[in-house]
Amino acid sequence: MITKVIFGNPYPTEAVVQPVAQAAQLKHFAVGVDYGLIFTCPLDENEVVYGLGETTGKMNKRGGRYISFNTDTADHSDSNPSIYASHNLLVLEKRNFCIFFDTPGRVDFLIDWNSSGKIEVICPKDVTVYQVEADSTYAAIREFLFAIGPAYLPPRWAFGYGQSRFGYKCEQDFLDVLKGHQDAGLPLDYICMDIDYMDGYRDFTVDASRFPDLKAFSERMLQDGIHLVPIVDAGIKVDPGEPVYEDGVKQDVFCTNKEGKLFQGGVWPGMTHFPDFLNPKARKWFGQQYRFYTDRGIEGFWNDMNEPALFYTEYTKGPKKLGLALDFIFPRLRKKVKERNMIRDYQSFFHHVDGKKICHYDVHNIYGSNMIRATSEGLAALLDHRYLIFGRSSYIGAGRYGGVWTGDNTSCWEHIMLNMRHMASLNMCGFLYCGADTGGFMGNCTRELLLRWLAVSAFTPLMRNHSSMGTRAQEAYRFGDPEAFRKVLSLRYRLLPYIYSEYMKAALGSDLYIKPLAFAFPADEKVKAIEDQLLVGGSIMIAPIVEKDATVRTVYLPEDMTQVCYDGKDFYCTPCSQGEHQVEIPYDQVVFYIRKGKLLPVGKAATNSREVTVDDLVLLGDGESYELYWDDGITRDCTQGNVKVLKKDF
Ligand code: GLC
Repeated sequence: MITKVIFGNPYPTEAVVQPVAQAAQLKHFAVGVDYGLIFTCPLDENEVVYGLGETTGKMNKRGGRYISFNTDTADHSDSNPSIYASHNLLVLEKRNFCIFFDTPGRVDFLIDWNSSGKIEVICPKDVTVYQVEADSTYAAIREFLFAIGPAYLPPRWAFGYGQSRFGYKCEQDFLDVLKGHQDAGLPLDYICMDIDYMDGYRDFTVDASRFPDLKAFSERMLQDGIHLVPIVDAGIKVDPGEPVYEDGVKQDVFCTNKEGKLFQGGVWPGMTHFPDFLNPKARKWFGQQYRFYTDRGIEGFWNDMNEPALFYTEYTKGPKKLGLALDFIFPRLRKKVKERNMIRDYQSFFHHVDGKKICHYDVHNIYGSNMIRATSEGLAALLDHRYLIFGRSSYIGAGRYGGVWTGDNTSCWEHIMLNMRHMASLNMCGFLYCGADTGGFMGNCTRELLLRWLAVSAFTPLMRNHSSMGTRAQEAYRFGDPEAFRKVLSLRYRLLPYIYSEYMKAALGSDLYIKPLAFAFPADEKVKAIEDQLLVGGSIMIAPIVEKDATVRTVYLPEDMTQVCYDGKDFYCTPCSQGEHQVEIPYDQVVFYIRKGKLLPVGKAATNSREVTVDDLVLLGDGESYELYWDDGITRDCTQGNVKVLKKDF
């Protein structure tokens, strides 16, 4: 049962869309007054606390301090309490209980911090607290997912493999990427266009010297089944005479500053104005601008810099050079100055909603979500079918409008694990379409790291290889013999009927696509400590290698399962009994498991999602039937009516 307790006069975040009854008081948590409000809950020894979506740290949040305050940062280490998103959901696994602190302002979570033996949540005084009690943790999460509304439905091509890089500059770069994949026999469905495609980093423009005819170019790529997916950033360049800028000023859709003028902050294009995404009129205006791309046959996008990221502002410009020097000489001091500036900047711009002037600082965490919403609603009006959209900054509820990627990670082994943890935690918060920069954004990737990372991303809905300029080229064909990459990427396409089917069933049925083992095996104490194995859909458990130089790992099976080894051509199935196993996984193979009593449909090899059919599916595993969701992959008409039951001997 879901109920809510309202404190003060909270800002309507629109995270929860179902009606929820009020309760007299909270369960498990006591409330006190601190700077704002402080909610406390004593924890039993070893009690597991999940949730918080996209945060640093482990999946079990115990022992950590996390601050919901959306921040543009490439530091994804455990010591950084704030990254791009705010997902204020805690899941008390032992109590079949979850709790959501719904406020757009800053929230601090201290979870058994300094071994305090309790959870402390420090919130603004205006907050709606939702609590869900059920017969199991899994049931509680599903009820929460129902309350926040159905997850976004991408087109089927969005489940294909995507290639991206900050630094693809002209048509030829994109053609080279396509040819590189084709020559190496590697599948591909889309290539992302980073800010380099724009004219001076201005949204809704293209540099005509490098892309003379974007429409013709996107049509040419589509002939090979490749969708172009441009980035769109939050800010609009201050640029008198430029039509989008002029129109935005005329329509009065930008945030204002303390003096009542339009607020200015420096991002990639230089000084920009920020659309007032909290205001429906501004959202509509921004959404309509996508006509620029849809008129050119483009139907997939990523939204970035929407925390919003501010490199400097009219208030905290500072000498840039000195800033850079400080980064190296006094990094801690520099960090402090940056934090102080960030707070000052966010306190100095304003939204205007329903005739009220609202300080950005107080509603900071819902800015990015409302950008995704603006994009999604705009595209829904411009197109009569599904489109791809994923963004960087988010708040709970935005999972209805699009997906997320987890930002500027690094080519290091810890970030494969962080990727796995994020996938499970994001699913609990309603973000089903998610993935990380496979191979890592910062730093130099190695062949081994990319292979192992792809073997994880092969199961995540968003499977995109993305890296920063200045790092080693990271396309899968850049690492010598592509045979091993062909194997892991071919697995993705052979699993596509299953991945698509499980995603769509989860999204339509308020379910998770990826979940921790504990949700399926609540009585098994052992699974609670396991974070490097996950359940993917109803049939699969993954247990990948996430350590350098390792070719063997320990896998714990909470029940008898079928082990599946894929060598790029055939699937080798071996029944395995409940318990621990030492499993060898060579670099060029993927090993995973099918749950007891379940079936896994696998299709034929393909190099593009257009070729994937469900005509010749083979059913692996010891189950009797499988419910396959399948449709044309693009129309909006997605209903349970598209599910058909496959029997083992069909
Ligand atoms: C941000 C994004 C990254 C992108 C870069 C340039 O750092 O997180 O993915 O490549 O901006 O647009």
